[in-house]
Amino acid sequence: MLNQQVVLKQRPSGIVQENDFGFVSNDLRDIKEGEIKVAIEYISCDPAMRGWMNAGKTYIEAVKIDEVMRGFAAGKIIESLNPNYKEREYVTGLLGVQQYAISNGQGLTHIKTLNESLSYHLGVLGMPGMTAYFGLLEKGQPKAGETVFISGAAGIVGSTVGQIAKIKGCKVIGTAGSAAKCKYLLEECSFDAVINYKEEDVAKRLKELCPDGVNIFYDNVGGPLLDIALTRLARGARVVICGAISQYNNKELYGPKNYMKIVTARGHICGVIVFDYIDQYPKAIRDISTWISEGKLRTKEHIVEGLDNFPSTLRMLFTGENFGKLLVKV
Ligand SMILES: NC(=O)c1ccc[n+]([C@@H]2O[C@H](COP(=O)([O-])OP(=O)(O)OC[C@H]3O[C@@H](n4cnc5c(N)ncnc54)[C@H](OP(=O)(O)O)[C@@H]3O)[C@@H](O)[C@H]2O)c1
Repeated sequence: MLNQQVVLKQRPSGIVQENDFGFVSNDLRDIKEGEIKVAIEYISCDPAMRGWMNAGKTYIEAVKIDEVMRGFAAGKIIESLNPNYKEREYVTGLLGVQQYAISNGQGLTHIKTLNESLSYHLGVLGMPGMTAYFGLLEKGQPKAGETVFISGAAGIVGSTVGQIAKIKGCKVIGTAGSAAKCKYLLEECSFDAVINYKEEDVAKRLKELCPDGVNIFYDNVGGPLLDIALTRLARGARVVICGAISQYNNKELYGPKNYMKIVTARGHICGVIVFDYIDQYPKAIRDISTWISEGKLRTKEHIVEGLDNFPSTLRMLFTGENFGKLLVKV
């Protein structure tokens, strides 16, 4: 059985290019005692993949040159020599950007019964959904009546954060990069207001929209947008640094100039790494599934067909072309 794989050929300079990746086909070996063979159905495109392509360790090792590109994926077990896993059950995890994966099961999420689309387990019920849930609820500590401001709000993390904040009784404002994304957040995700950061003066609009300031700023974008948000903090505000997608392709990072606003606001800045909450994922998955079934939380997916299209699809995250959780269907 041949396994098509996407490998890292060179470290990108700036935005990812198609020739940063290569394609190889290798014979898939037989599984050994304790292992499972997975036919991958969906591969998740996540902003963090850009950081994994750089040299040097961050919170995780860099992908090596000629190594299969690291990626979250979801698939069906087609063969098992592991007593904990049965054929025709599903798993998600860091299975790599390839058609098939062999695993000993460690670190995988095991889906015995599929109640929703498998792809949801890479999005709203997967790592990005968990990031939204724990980043907002554990780090942000929202209280009813507070104002939550979210950058990168139309992404899977941002749109989920906003809807959970609405469920918790907050006023929710976001930024997004197109009229269609702003409309979606207002009409389908119940945001109170959305600022098109490409066309509007964010500082001016934010001041108009939050005369009493922002209680929680959930930042997915970083850079100058973070600086603007810092000027609007209410007393006791919490700034949750989830990511900084505006900076991932830059050699030199833009650091905040307005950080002293944290002092005057008696605020807190903290970072979140989703993997720290792995033991608590089942509760988050239960809560989010319930909100989806009750019609309180919506999600949108952007699915591109074909492993061949992985390199051009990953680029979309950094051009804003994706509208919804970005996935490649194998
Ligand atoms: N800390 C953690 O554990 C953790 C886990 C998962 C994700 N994250 C972070 O969460 C953030 C959102 O992730 P996601 O999966 O939901 O991705 P996503 O929002 O789907 O990411 C892509 C979106 O980011 C926006 N964007 C791209 N370049 C931008 C720029 N220069 N300035 C402003 N916006 C830009 C684009 O939307 P527009 O059209 O609106 O520009 C694009 O569609 C990322 O920063 C990611 O690294 C962190």
